[in-house]
Amino acid sequence: MNQVFDVIKSRRSVRRYLPKQIKEEELNAIIEAASYAPSGHNCQPWHFTIIQNKALIESMNKKIKQQMVLSSHDWANRMGASEQYHVFHHAPTVVIVSGDKTATSPLPLAGTDIRYTPLVDCAAAIENILLAAESLGIGSCWLGVVNLFFELPEVKELGIPDSYQPYFAVTLGYKDTSTALQVAPKRRTGIVSYIR
Ligand SMILES: Cc1cc2nc3c(=O)[nH]c(=O)nc-3n(C[C@H](O)[C@H](O)[C@H](O)COP(=O)(O)O)c2cc1C
Repeated sequence: MNQVFDVIKSRRSVRRYLPKQIKEEELNAIIEAASYAPSGHNCQPWHFTIIQNKALIESMNKKIKQQMVLSSHDWANRMGASEQYHVFHHAPTVVIVSGDKTATSPLPLAGTDIRYTPLVDCAAAIENILLAAESLGIGSCWLGVVNLFFELPEVKELGIPDSYQPYFAVTLGYKDTSTALQVAPKRRTGIVSYIR
């Protein structure tokens, strides 16, 4: 249809990266795209912590995998114990996305008593990161498992500003195309109803 649709449909979670670091101007363009996401009441309640220090990425990987082994979930135990699994998929850049907990909305989200929207605002910013990266031929993966690190005292080492809660991480790097990406999972059908 047009390039935006092409980028949306070609983006996949990338779990194999080349060790080469992405260019500074590419990183800056991707983060700028994130900052153009919509946000409730235009709070723009995000903070991006960019980690390109290999030693820190490796130490976070180790600590998260230790937590996974202690988890009550079988899949987490298995992955935490696996030599092959790397939480950050050996990506050279990791972006931690945090939201300002004090960014409040006057209305709660329907069905909840949540009066603030930084979590959904940050999710919108993350999607911009993924799509902007794909448009530049850069691979990315949204990471939730990193939350196991956010519960540890070591999270302080990330220097996230006070009142901000880290929610997710995104990996960024050039794709290792030596093995093909899996095809996109089949899309669920029956997800639309019309009132006309
Ligand atoms: C909230 C959220 C958390 C995710 N956490 C992880 C994760 O911890 N590790 C990982 O490899 N992928 C993670 N993913 C990526 C999903 O597994 C992936 O988006 C899904 O399997 C669909 O594949 P696709 O992104 O290639 O379309 C996460 C995605 C989302 C939206």
